[in-house]
Order: sequence, then C-alpha cells, then structure tokens
Amino acid sequence: MHSTTDPLRRKTTKRRFLQGVAAAAGAGALYRTMGALGVPAAAAQEAAAPALPAGSGAGRRVAILGAGVAGMAAAWELGKAGYACTILEATARAGGRNLTARGGDILRETDSAQQVGFGPGDHIYANMGPARIPYHHRAILGYCKEFGVALEMFVNDNRAAYFHNRRRFDGAPVAGRRVQTDMRGYVAELLAKAVGGGALDAELAAEDKERVLAMLVEYGDLDPDYLYKGSSRAGYRGASVHAAFGEGEPNDPLDFGELLRSDFWEYKLHFDDFLDQNPTLFQPVGGMDAIVRAFGNRVGGLIRRGAAVEEIRRAGSGARIVFRDAVSGAREALEADFVVCTIPAPVLRNISADFSAAAHAAIRSAAFVPAVKIAFEARNRFWEEEHGIYGGISWTDRDITQIWYPACGYHAERGVVIGAYIWDDRPGQCARFADMAPEERLRTAIAEGESVHPGYGAAMLAGASRAWAKVPYQLGGWPESYDPPAALRAPDGPFHFAGDQTTALPGWQEGAVLSAHAAVAAIGERAAREG
Ligand code: PHE
Repeated sequence: MHSTTDPLRRKTTKRRFLQGVAAAAGAGALYRTMGALGVPAAAAQEAAAPALPAGSGAGRRVAILGAGVAGMAAAWELGKAGYACTILEATARAGGRNLTARGGDILRETDSAQQVGFGPGDHIYANMGPARIPYHHRAILGYCKEFGVALEMFVNDNRAAYFHNRRRFDGAPVAGRRVQTDMRGYVAELLAKAVGGGALDAELAAEDKERVLAMLVEYGDLDPDYLYKGSSRAGYRGASVHAAFGEGEPNDPLDFGELLRSDFWEYKLHFDDFLDQNPTLFQPVGGMDAIVRAFGNRVGGLIRRGAAVEEIRRAGSGARIVFRDAVSGAREALEADFVVCTIPAPVLRNISADFSAAAHAAIRSAAFVPAVKIAFEARNRFWEEEHGIYGGISWTDRDITQIWYPACGYHAERGVVIGAYIWDDRPGQCARFADMAPEERLRTAIAEGESVHPGYGAAMLAGASRAWAKVPYQLGGWPESYDPPAALRAPDGPFHFAGDQTTALPGWQEGAVLSAHAAVAAIGERAAREG
C-alpha cells in the first residue's frame, strides 16, 4: 500500500491527512443538501435526521448489513417511519469499531484472542476505536442528547504533556508548554525582524507595520527589542512549573535549530488546530460504547447476530441477502426492498455482490489506514502525580507515536493510558505491531514508551491491543481517502452504501451517522416516488 522508498508518496499521504481534517467541514454541508430531496434540512444546531413521513415505510423491508453506528442509526430512523428493518451482524456484538475494552473482555483478531486483564472500576476501560467527539459533530452529539448519553470533556491538548524525538534535545521529552511557547516566540521574532528591517514594506502600510510589531510582542512574548529571550509561558526552571514566591527564573528557551530539525512541527505541534481535533471535544462517561448501548436499547431487537453475509443479490426491484449463521453453520436468505450496506470495503470486496461495475471498482480500490491502539492499566497515576498531566497526549517519534492520558478518574488510584496509537506516519509502522503476537505488542509498546516515561513499564498491570487491519469483519481502521468514491455515495439499484467510508469524515462516528441519514433520505425518496 505504502512504499517506504517513495518520499513523494509519503508526502501525499501526509498532505491528505492534513487536508482531510480540514475537508471535514464539507461533509456536513454535503449531506445537508439532502434538503434538496424534499427532506427537511437540519434547522437546529444538532444535525437532525431526515424526518420521513410517519407510516411511509409500512410494508417495506430493509436489510441493513452491519450493526455498527451507521447501521443502527439507519434502523432507528427507518423504524420511526414504519420500515421493517433487519440488521445482519457478522459478529456476536453490536458497535463495530466503537469498542470499549474492559476487564474480562475477549478481543479477537484473525490469528489471536486476548483476554483483557484490567481490574474493576468505572474509569478502568479503554476505547479501542473512537475515543473523541468534537463539538461540531452535531449529528452524533444529537443522538447523545436524544438518548441521554452523559458526556464529559475529552482532553486533546495538554501543555504539560511531552514532545519527544530520539535525535533532538538529547532524546529527552520536552513539555508542550516549552515547545509551543518557544516555537511561537522564535517565529514572532523572525517576522518582527523582517517587518522592522523593511522586508515587508511593499505588503504593509506604515501604521500596519507598527501594529504588526506591537502584535508580535504580545503574541510571541518578545522583549521590547523584538527579540525572543524566553517566556514565563514556558514555565520556570527547577522542579515546579510555576514560581510560587518571587519572580523565579523562566526556562531558557529551547534551541531554535533543534526545534526546526525535530518532527514536532510536521503536524503534532498544531494537532489541535485541525478542525476535527479542536476543543471542545467530548467522551461519553464510562466508555464510548455508551452510544452503542443507547442505540442497542432502541434497535437491538432488530439485530440478527452471528449472521455473516456471503452474497448480496438483486431480486426483482429488491434484493436477496444470503448469510451464514455462525452457530448452526446454515446458509439462510433474507429478502428486502432496500439494502443499507455498511460493510467496510476491505470486507465487502470479498463478498459476491450484484453491484454496478463502478461500485465494485470503488470497493476494490479503497485503501484503509491499518490503525493500531494499545492500552495499559497502570497501578498508579504517575502522569498526574509526577508530571501534573491530566488527560491529553504525549507525542514521540517512536513507532507508538502517541501516549494518551485518561480524561476521567482524576486522582483515583489506578488509570488506563493508551500506550500506542499508530496510524502510519511512516509506512509499515502499523504492520510492525499488527504482525506481533499480543504479548509482544505490549512489551514493545512499553519499551518504546520508556523513552517518554522512563521506568513506566513497572507501573503497568495489564494491557490490551487492537490492530484493526486484523479484526475479523473490519480488516482496517478507516479509509485513507477523504474523498469518498461517487459510486458509494449514490444508490446502486436497491443498494445504499453507508458507513464513514462513504463520507468525507473517515474514521469518525459523525461520518457513520451522516451516511445513515443520507441512506434513509434516499430510501424515503425512492419509496415516495414509487408510492
Ligand atoms: N477519528 C480518529 C481520531 O481522532 C481517527 C482519525 C485520525 C481520523 C486522524 C482522521 C484523522 O484519532
């Protein structure tokens, strides 16, 4: 998929990552154009589901393939209009990638099964799939509101957390407050030099020059001579971050050359500026699967579990789905007028289906990020006790990429950290971990995490990992492309594709929900046409 020897390709991937985060804003707009189909547009701040006329689905059957967030949202909305929905779910569990791991859970992959060894406790869990919901994901937040799913803040940005690069700053982790403050100070100083030296006279009127210089002094905390000589914003020297009595000695600024030679600025330094990563972000109290349970309470009775789809056929103007029952092994068939297909492309491409040539081609070529997450339960919250870190992310150039600190259970005895969250900054990073046996993943993640928190392995009681490319019936994390193929956004006869893979929000529950709403609207539209 990636070539390790092609820097351009790597650059494209990075650029796509950056653009995609920005492009996300377009998705809501895209799906809200469903108003053009005669479906009332979302009026309120929460993106509303298409309200189909009551009873308009009576006598019509819908087969929904996959009981993830998209499939369950579609069933819930279609059910309101009287459609008879059946959700075929290949696994024994609803939720798809929305998976919260707790003690005793079994996590299965194609060649392994792990029993999660976490202890008890409301905050002792790990969201192995989605873990954060930004404030502008109005559709999924709308369901949280409608269903009474309690939310709490998720912490993305934390200035006490670290940036780490093995080859910079003697390989020592550097607190975010220093990296952010000093980088900004140096950039402000450079710009002040350019402006003060007249380099931008053609661009700036004289009075704006003065304003820019005045602004840069405040923005970068420059000295009156427009030089950056460090700032109390970066914290003080010594054991304590702040100065309790007297003025204290601010930290010396980090070396600008080292900052420039580090990888921090490539995206980690401004990660929270990406639209989908902007504060405020939320998490459901007690685990992301509170959303799965809320949907399950409403549509759980429609789910046929252990039903692995084997054939997707056209039958007259409708469809016929052939599936295999996981327990009996028997093949069964389900007839329907409409199909909402949320099966992820890496799985769908191996199912025999009467799709259009364009849909087949799109499904065959969709590349997914093989994301890996690894979680550890720690016996003590050393990140809070020793570092004053409450939630947030430390970044490292090691393959584990990220360490997440829990945004719940503050000051409790134990806690769960994410010890690796990998999405292939460098090709092969995910595969390296995915190819390891579960125990080896844990050992390796701890060894790499020691670069950020020396000795932290000793605190870890148990661990769990998820390599999404090896999860049966998922076979991937989320689509690499933020530009979903047109063939998956439009109905293909009775087939309506759904899931985040059909949206410009890959890897977000918001995409799942908006895709469900689009499918529901399109089904309502066709039903209305047919009368
Ligand atoms: N939504 C996921 C996350 O926040 C996956 C993702 C990461 C999607 C980066 C797009 C970009 O981590």
